[in-house]
Amino acid sequence: MRKRSGIQPSGRLHLGNYFGMMKPALELQKQGQAYLFIADYHALTSVTDAAALRQGSIDVALDFLAAGLDTDKTLFYRQSDIPEVTELSWLLSVVTPMGLLERCHSYKDKVAKGLPATHGLFAYPVLMAADILIMNSNVVPVGRDQKQHVEVTRDIAIKFNNIYGQVFTIPEPPIREEVAVVPGVDGQKMSKSYNNTVEIFGDLKQARANIMKIVTDSKSVADKKNPDECNVFALYRLFATDAEREAMAARYREGGLGYGEVKKALFEKFEAHFTPLRKKREELQKNMDYVHSVLRQGADRARTEAVGTLKKARQAVGLE
Ligand code: ADP
Ligand code: TRP
Repeated sequence: MRKRSGIQPSGRLHLGNYFGMMKPALELQKQGQAYLFIADYHALTSVTDAAALRQGSIDVALDFLAAGLDTDKTLFYRQSDIPEVTELSWLLSVVTPMGLLERCHSYKDKVAKGLPATHGLFAYPVLMAADILIMNSNVVPVGRDQKQHVEVTRDIAIKFNNIYGQVFTIPEPPIREEVAVVPGVDGQKMSKSYNNTVEIFGDLKQARANIMKIVTDSKSVADKKNPDECNVFALYRLFATDAEREAMAARYREGGLGYGEVKKALFEKFEAHFTPLRKKREELQKNMDYVHSVLRQGADRARTEAVGTLKKARQAVGLE
């Protein structure tokens, strides 16, 4: 089974990214061959500062290696190191119905958020289809926001195969497992666009200050509280064992527990969890040759496969 996912290098990682995307991606390592790539071509739809993009890609590599990416188990590479992806994207474009792309929510959402309405942003799902199809991936674990793109990939692959013969493996429909939305310090979805994040590799004092700022209701220490309505608890439970979570929930319900105390407990969990990762990241940063060599080797391996798939597609359409 080939599982694949991509991550855009477009900002500093926060708890929402970690629990919503990074941890699930790293879990795949336990389940067979996994592919993970840095979607820098895609990032061009939102990042127009070259230095920021360059640094962003390296940051993602450092983040994932620090968080436990095992290069023996995961083929890790940068999308733009496989330029075949863009050629395949064109071959897919010519069979992709406009209506299919017009129905994509993510384009409309991004334009509504202020991203420029470019052709690249509109064609984004076709490039994503090329990423998936070029590596013959059959399982694509993605978050809720990306499920429609996997459906689109299937439609495009089926259409292409119908016209030109059996070239692509059709990926399975997106997996239904939902990762809960991680709330930010203001209680909305944690997102870098909302300025409500707790960064995992940022300044520790800042992370503490942000945790202490998490919005709660105004119940007093003595009051009984509902853990399921509390933003602090929603974050605490991500780190806690089942037993710890139950114990903390019971204390909420009994009364006598102040939000300040839970925030401190949350920060302690945060610190204990991320300190080893932060140390690893600092070490890696001193050894950038290693980081570059990981990406180079990943690219070499991925490219061999990509070249093979592209050749089949070129032959099928009559370019060879
Ligand atoms: P942001 O909202 O900060 O811009 P992105 O849209 O770049 O984050 O998301 C990158 C990945 O992290 C996606 O896979 C997305 O599903 C996941 N993610 C982002 N924020 C959250 C969140 N608050 N809860 C769960 N997953 C999230
Ligand atoms: N569009 C995805 C995101 O924003 C990233 C991505 C690009 C991707 N190509 C992919 C994910 C292929 C899975 C498979 O999160």
